[in-house]
Amino acid sequence: MEMFNSLIWMFVLLCSSVADENSITDADIFPSSPKIERGSPLKLFCVLRKSYLPQRNASHIIWKLNDELIASENCNIVNETVSSVTIRNFTYNTAYVKCLMNLDKEQLLAHTEVKSGFRPDRPENISCIYFYKDNLTCTWNAGRETSFTTNYTLYRKLMNSPNTVSSCQNTTESCSFFYPNTPYDRDFCFQVEAKNVLGSSSSDCIHIPLIKIEKFAPPEILSVKKIPGIKQLLTVTWKMPEKIFPSKHLICQVQYRNLYSNFTKFVNVSLNLENKTGSCNLTGLWDSTDYSVAIQCVNNGSAFWSGWSGEKKGSTEEKAPSGKVDLWRVIEPSHSSQNRSVHLMWKPLKSFPPSGRILGYKIQYFPEKKTALKRTNNSTEKKITLLLNEEAHIVSVTACNSAGESPEAILRIPSTDEKSKISQCHIFLNNEKVVFITSV
Ligand SMILES: *[C@@H]1O[C@H](CO)[C@@H](O)[C@H](O)[C@H]1NC(C)=O
Ligand SMILES: *[C@@H]1O[C@H](CO)[C@@H](O)[C@H](O)[C@H]1NC(C)=O
Ligand SMILES: *[C@@H]1O[C@H](CO)[C@@H](O)[C@H](O)[C@H]1NC(C)=O
Ligand SMILES: *[C@@H]1O[C@H](CO)[C@@H](O)[C@H](O)[C@H]1NC(C)=O
Ligand SMILES: *[C@@H]1O[C@H](CO)[C@@H](O)[C@H](O)[C@H]1NC(C)=O
Ligand SMILES: *[C@@H]1O[C@H](CO)[C@@H](O)[C@H](O)[C@H]1NC(C)=O
Ligand SMILES: *[C@@H]1O[C@H](CO)[C@@H](O)[C@H](O)[C@H]1NC(C)=O
Repeated sequence: MEMFNSLIWMFVLLCSSVADENSITDADIFPSSPKIERGSPLKLFCVLRKSYLPQRNASHIIWKLNDELIASENCNIVNETVSSVTIRNFTYNTAYVKCLMNLDKEQLLAHTEVKSGFRPDRPENISCIYFYKDNLTCTWNAGRETSFTTNYTLYRKLMNSPNTVSSCQNTTESCSFFYPNTPYDRDFCFQVEAKNVLGSSSSDCIHIPLIKIEKFAPPEILSVKKIPGIKQLLTVTWKMPEKIFPSKHLICQVQYRNLYSNFTKFVNVSLNLENKTGSCNLTGLWDSTDYSVAIQCVNNGSAFWSGWSGEKKGSTEEKAPSGKVDLWRVIEPSHSSQNRSVHLMWKPLKSFPPSGRILGYKIQYFPEKKTALKRTNNSTEKKITLLLNEEAHIVSVTACNSAGESPEAILRIPSTDEKSKISQCHIFLNNEKVVFITSV
C-alpha cells in the first residue's frame, strides 16, 4: 500500500503538467489517505497545479488538522509548487488534513483522511477443536485492537517439517479446515500469522495432538427402563454418534435426577466403541420414582466432552404406597335417620418413598356391630358419598398403585345418638386442613 502510494506520488509529481488540463482540483495531497503507526510522525505534501503560477506559489499554502491551523514551524516550502507538513506524534484514530491557499480568504485546495493504528501483535493462545470427519477449528487471541482490518492465516504443518500442509484465512480470530481436509493419522502443529496494512507477525507453531482436542456430537438415549421384577433399578441404553475418532477408549458420564427429591447423581461408564451403543444399570434408586437421565461422553485423553444428550425419563418398579391417605368426613344433617349422607374426602400424603402412580382408591365400610356386612367401593376420585343408616360405621380408605395397597386410613362414623356429642368441623386455609373438634 505504501509502495503503491509513493509510486502514484512520483507519477503525479512528474506528470502533473500532463494531468492538470482536465483536472478540477487545484492541488493534490500525497500520500493520499495514509495509514500509519500510531505515535509515528506523519509527513504530507501538497502539490499545486501549475496553473497557479506564477501569481501564487507554495509559500501561500497553510495546513489544517481537523479544522485547526497547524503551526507554521511544522510546515515547509519545498519549492514553488510543493508544501509539506510534519506532525511529529500522530495519535488520532482518524483525522482530516487539509491544505489551503491563504490569500484574501482561505481557499481549500485538497484534503485527505489519515488513520493510525498498530501492527498486529503475535497471536497467542491457539486452541483447536476437532470434529472427526467434519471440521477442525482453531481460535486464538489477537491481542490489542489494531484499528485496521487484520487478515489471519492459520497454517497446519507437519511436525519436524517446515512445509505447510494446509492453510485457511479469515478476518476474525478463528479459522476452520473442513473434511476431507482433516486427516487424523498425522501429527500437526498450528501457526497463526496476523497481517494488516502496517505489518505482520506470527505465532510459534504449536503442536496439538488431535486426540487431545476431539469433540463429538452428544449421544442419544434410546431407553430408560425398569427390569420387571427388579426394584430400585433402571437400565439406560444409548447410541453413540457416528463420527468418532477411531480410538478404543471412551468414557460416558450418566447423570440421573430423582424427580421427587430433585437430587442429582452421576456415574461414569467406560465404553468400548466397537458396538456403537452403551448401556448401564442405575442401582440404589428409590421405589416408585421418576428419574430423568442425560449422558455426555468423551474420548479418553481429549479435553472436550460432547454436549449433553437430551433428557429421557423412566420410573422405577412400584412398591405399595407406604403412607395412609389423610381422611375426613362430613355428615349431612338429615331428617330421615335411616339415610344419612356421609361425604368422605381424602388426600394422599407425601410419603417416603413416593407412592408412585395411584390407580385408584378402595373404600370399605360396615356397621360397627355387623362386620359381616362389609361393602367395598372403588373410586378414582378423592371423595365419595355413602348413604348410611343410623348405626355407627367404620369406614376405611386405601390408595392403590400397580404394586398394591397402602395401609388403611380408618374413620368411625358415630351413630345418630352419639352424633350430637361431638361435632367436627374441617375447613381449608391455603389448602391446609384445619380441624376444630368441639365436645358438647
Ligand atoms: C518540487 O519538488 C518536487 C519534489 O522534490 C519535485 O519533484 C518537483 O519537480 C519540484 N518542482 C519544481 C517546479 O521544481
Ligand atoms: C512566491 O510568491 C511570492 C510573491 O507572491 C514571492 O515573493 C516568492 O518569492 C515566491 N516563492 C517562490 C518559492 O517562488
Ligand atoms: C505522543 O503523544 C502521546 C499522547 O499525547 C504521548 O503519550 C506519547 O508519549 C507521545 N509520544 C512521543 C514519541 O512524543
Ligand atoms: C492467554 O491465556 C492466558 C491464560 O488463559 C491469559 O492469561 C492470557 O491473557 C491470554 N493471552 C492473550 C493474548 O489473550
Ligand atoms: C431441581 O434442580 C435443578 C438443578 O439441579 C434446578 O434447576 C431446578 O430448579 C430444581 N427444581 C426444583 C423443583 O427444585
Ligand atoms: C443390569 O442388570 C441386569 C439384571 O441384574 C443384568 O442382567 C444386566 O446385564 C445388567 N446390565 C448391565 C449393563 O450391567
Ligand atoms: C358402591 O358400589 C356399589 C356396587 O358396586 C354400587 O351399587 C354403588 O352405587 C356404589 N356406591 C357409590 C357411593 O359409589
